[in-house]
Amino acid sequence: MVEKGFGLYIHWPFCTRICPYCDFNIYKDRGADTAKWTDAFISEINHWAVQTPGRRLTSIYFGGGTPSLAAPELVHTVINAARSAWPTNDNIEITLEANPTDAEQARFSAFHGSGVNRLSLGIQSFDDTALQFLGRNHTGHEARYALDLALKIFGNVTFDLIYALPDQTEEAWQSSLRKALSIGAPHLSAYQLTIEPGTAFEKAVERGTFAPADDDHGAALYDITQSEAERAGRPRYEISNHASPGFESRHNLTYWRGGDYIGIGPGAHGRVTIDGTRRATETHRAPQKYLTAVNDHGHGICLDDPLSRDDVFAEKLTMGLRMQEGVSLSQLEFAQLADRIKVLQADGFIEINGPHLSASAAGQRILNSLLSTLLI
Ligand SMILES: C[S@@+](CC[C@H](N)C(=O)[O-])C[C@H]1O[C@@H](n2cnc3c(N)ncnc32)[C@H](O)[C@@H]1O
Repeated sequence: MVEKGFGLYIHWPFCTRICPYCDFNIYKDRGADTAKWTDAFISEINHWAVQTPGRRLTSIYFGGGTPSLAAPELVHTVINAARSAWPTNDNIEITLEANPTDAEQARFSAFHGSGVNRLSLGIQSFDDTALQFLGRNHTGHEARYALDLALKIFGNVTFDLIYALPDQTEEAWQSSLRKALSIGAPHLSAYQLTIEPGTAFEKAVERGTFAPADDDHGAALYDITQSEAERAGRPRYEISNHASPGFESRHNLTYWRGGDYIGIGPGAHGRVTIDGTRRATETHRAPQKYLTAVNDHGHGICLDDPLSRDDVFAEKLTMGLRMQEGVSLSQLEFAQLADRIKVLQADGFIEINGPHLSASAAGQRILNSLLSTLLI
């Protein structure tokens, strides 16, 4: 039985600028009131600790937004509050997302000192023209410098890249990915550019300013990503995630393996099993509304729904098939899908090993339609 873990996600919703592709719950602000935000996060941690006695925390993840804009003292106090609210292992994974600007690099050591032991850098590209297109406020040179510095300070470092930019050729992506992998970070998340509803990029595409990559080209770039990462010793362990063995994100594995995680901060999602029922939670998205709610009730939760058996099963498949290791089904779950599985297996999209189901390389490429066939 694989260890699913029990994680804590903290959403920091502020960015110094809003990227034109991003539809996360973010606001252009620094959220400078450290004391107020620290108090709110601690209240929520204490609220959840009472609901989940005896759980052992295996990971903490500061995501955003841009949590490297938060004060290192806030991060330190929140980590200590979590570590006293739940028992933790000595090797707990504590990740913070950071942007590679000069100002933020200057704080990497302070974040390390505050207890963060894994840094996730939002690099997106090392190429200045691509960075300009993506509306980023750092250069390729800064990105390279930040990655080198993070590797020196943290060792355990991951970075995000976005590919399938307009007119990006297979050769151009292969060469920039190869260079990026040669820097030696043990973990990489590579995302194909998605045009999200409501973003500036959606409007630009509607106006005809640029056209997103078509599906075939996207698939070719995806294949290059897999072969280059594999060649560099960082094979895919999830659709968009690649790691040297032992450097897989333990926090994200908790999501994908269907483990429980607490979500705090504005617009955070959680999945928590209480008295045998798995619950889906969400907090208020708007920062001020969230702070008021925490002040009034000790937590910012605005949705707390029990999940039905079918919901839990659908999530288990949707998340589990993203991973190379796949998902282990009970006899009952397996029987429920047996006919559909047989067809998909014959077509080469699904692989079966006992009760263990995984998507083949071809299946991962068409994961959404695979899931809709399985879950009709
Ligand atoms: C919300 S961001 C936070 C990270 C960091 N603050 C930053 O600015 O890069 C999380 C990651 O999701 C990815 N991402 C967000 N929107 C995307 C999109 N529309 N298409 C592809 N990747 C996207 C980016 O790689 C980004 O680093």
